[in-house]
Amino acid sequence: MLTKSDIQFLLSPLGHKVLNEAGSLSGNVLQKVDYLRKQYPREQVAASLDMLELRSRGRAKFSNADRMWFTPQGLEQSSGEVIAKYRAVQFPLGSSINDLCCGIGGDSIQLGVNHKVISIDIDPMTALCAKSNFDIFGSNARAICGDSTKLNITADFAFFDPSRRSGGRTVRHGDQYSPPLSFTHEISKKVAGLAVKVSPGLPDLEMESFASTIEFISVRGECKEAVLWCGALSRPNFKSATLLPENVTLSNLEFCEPLSITPPLAYLYEPDPAVVRAHLIQEVAEIVNGSLMDSMIAYITSDHLTQTPFATAYKIIDWMPFHIKNLQRRLRQLDRRVVAIKKRGVPMDPLDLRKKITGDGRGEAIIVLTRINDSPSALICELVNFS
Ligand SMILES: C[S@@+](CC[C@H](N)C(=O)[O-])C[C@H]1O[C@@H](n2cnc3c(N)ncnc32)[C@H](O)[C@@H]1O
Repeated sequence: MLTKSDIQFLLSPLGHKVLNEAGSLSGNVLQKVDYLRKQYPREQVAASLDMLELRSRGRAKFSNADRMWFTPQGLEQSSGEVIAKYRAVQFPLGSSINDLCCGIGGDSIQLGVNHKVISIDIDPMTALCAKSNFDIFGSNARAICGDSTKLNITADFAFFDPSRRSGGRTVRHGDQYSPPLSFTHEISKKVAGLAVKVSPGLPDLEMESFASTIEFISVRGECKEAVLWCGALSRPNFKSATLLPENVTLSNLEFCEPLSITPPLAYLYEPDPAVVRAHLIQEVAEIVNGSLMDSMIAYITSDHLTQTPFATAYKIIDWMPFHIKNLQRRLRQLDRRVVAIKKRGVPMDPLDLRKKITGDGRGEAIIVLTRINDSPSALICELVNFS
């Protein structure tokens, strides 16, 4: 378990030496410990290997993870570089920003590229990591350790990413965040505009009580977070979904025709999770000229093939009420083998079904289990490749 003094040691010239040496070793952990323990005390070796492990995990979020400083929680709660970069450019160029819960600095590093940033975190070890990360990147951000609810906020704008963990567990409601989400109202009174990062799982009504515009963000097809944009940072549309790294945004339309319900047509469209979370199904249906197959399920069907970043398109080869033997028989007739099973709105377990459906047909099939006009059904599909 890393401590603040471990990090202080690692930041010292001797710490750098041990860390570099540990990083250059090959072999498994035991071999590395064996080798390093001949020269350095146990705590120094453990701290170095812990930091290297965090850096290795950090590569999934940061391109420069191998030079960064992390705490386990700080890494886990940090915004990845792709989202942080996208969000930072939404603040007016050259403005001053208070990052009110900066963690190890995932957001502040990017905010500091074109803004003057003062970043604060209540945890001394985390604030130390943030400061060290700003030093590495020559960032305009300055880290201080303290309680953001007591900070005299003087910046033009603020970014607020409260902690969603308490006693080692993830909390579900804004009043359990630390500081609580209600702090948003206090911050809003002091700045021209504010962005708040929250879990995309937070109930709609709760989000709407804090902001007039809400954006859901997905990265490579996974809905990662929601941002509440307040004051001068508010967007013209109430809800939007942004897909990264493509950097494309779909916003709610003022008016949408109610969607019709039809049986499956030539194509199936699976909207991106951020689009689904933002309730923008009608907007995607307008793009692909589609309808729903069930009023409660976010799959769209259409006779038109339209390329859109907001949904994955599949060609529907056949469909039927769900029945394993019939499905298996049809796959054999079609000479197809199952390569993936997706499901939405039905209780079936795809892993269980995968074991039961055998066959090694020459063609590929993606099985989609869903409700069609309220009855469990299976669609045999193939991915449309637009390239
Ligand atoms: C979700 S993390 C922030 C992650 C950060 N945006 C990043 O990308 O690295 C939340 C942080 O809030 C800090 N925190 C909790 N209560 C605080 C308070 N009252 N004042 C300042 N920081 C606080 C925690 O220590 C934690 O590091």
